[in-house]
Amino acid sequence: MRFRKARATLGQIVLGMMEERRRTGSDPGDLLSLLMNPVDEETGEKMDDAQLRDEAMTIFLAGHETTANALAWTLYLLSQHQVVEQSVRTELAQVLAGHRVQTSDFARLPYLQMVLKEAMRLYPPVWILARRAAKDDVILGHRIDKGAYVFLPTYTLHRHPQFWPRPDTFEPERWATDGKGMHKYKCLPFSVGGRKCIGDHFAMLEATLVLATLLPQVQLALVPGQDIALEPTITLRPKHGTRMTVPAVDAETRELTLAVAAVHCKAVAAGVPSGCPFHAAAN
Ligand code: HEM
Repeated sequence: MRFRKARATLGQIVLGMMEERRRTGSDPGDLLSLLMNPVDEETGEKMDDAQLRDEAMTIFLAGHETTANALAWTLYLLSQHQVVEQSVRTELAQVLAGHRVQTSDFARLPYLQMVLKEAMRLYPPVWILARRAAKDDVILGHRIDKGAYVFLPTYTLHRHPQFWPRPDTFEPERWATDGKGMHKYKCLPFSVGGRKCIGDHFAMLEATLVLATLLPQVQLALVPGQDIALEPTITLRPKHGTRMTVPAVDAETRELTLAVAAVHCKAVAAGVPSGCPFHAAAN
């Protein structure tokens, strides 16, 4: 009952937004516009309202909670790893030079992306994948009957000692080669194959931009004494949330960050190979 009510409320919000656009003729070029405007090549028709609402809701639900969890875990990990956090700040200071982050900065923030990938390795927002066998099969000697459900817990895969050195350690540097040379199925935050996430690039862009907006301004610190437990529902949430204090970045941290960024810039300008150890991928 609560689910139906919540679904109806969300549906009404989306329909309301579509009506508003049609009434005012506004087209901000966002995701909703991209869904509302295209015409089917074969039928020459646009999507009807029910289809549009369902598409928008799918993207909203598949994209919102997953990215929110990825961000929550990333901020938690950063609060526990000050060296990594400082390296992120240095990269941001160097790339943004005090400006607001732009979409075009994405490619220039490789370390921040490594941090996100490592956070999703340790805490995959979609922690388990499920498939139903289309026919009888045998996997590694195990019989799989047609119609049986097969589950792949990416949480376990991502921490399996056979595949990962120091599996439980947060080490963004392991992504310095952008995963090249890594088995392509050992880290699957966005799944793989025909049903893989359609929003993977969007999610990486969105999460990078959120962090690059937030971190230069605030210094998140975990409120001590919390029980950070896993809640593996459809997505992997922090069971009791992650309560943090959000003070503005203090002058000392800002100065330190600018000084380290300046040294790094000088090193790169002088042709020192990889002035920053984390930017091997970008150099
Ligand atoms: C960090 C963020 C995200 C993660 C970790 C994530 C993860 C995933 C995973 C693992 C699947 C596949 C499930 C399976 O194989 O059974 C999936 C599917 C999907 N995702 Fe994402 N996702 C994220 C963000 C997004 C965003 C931002 C969007 C939309 C803008 C999106 C839209 C979808 C859709 C529509 C599907 C279903 C695809 C299909 O069945 O054909 N996701 N996502």
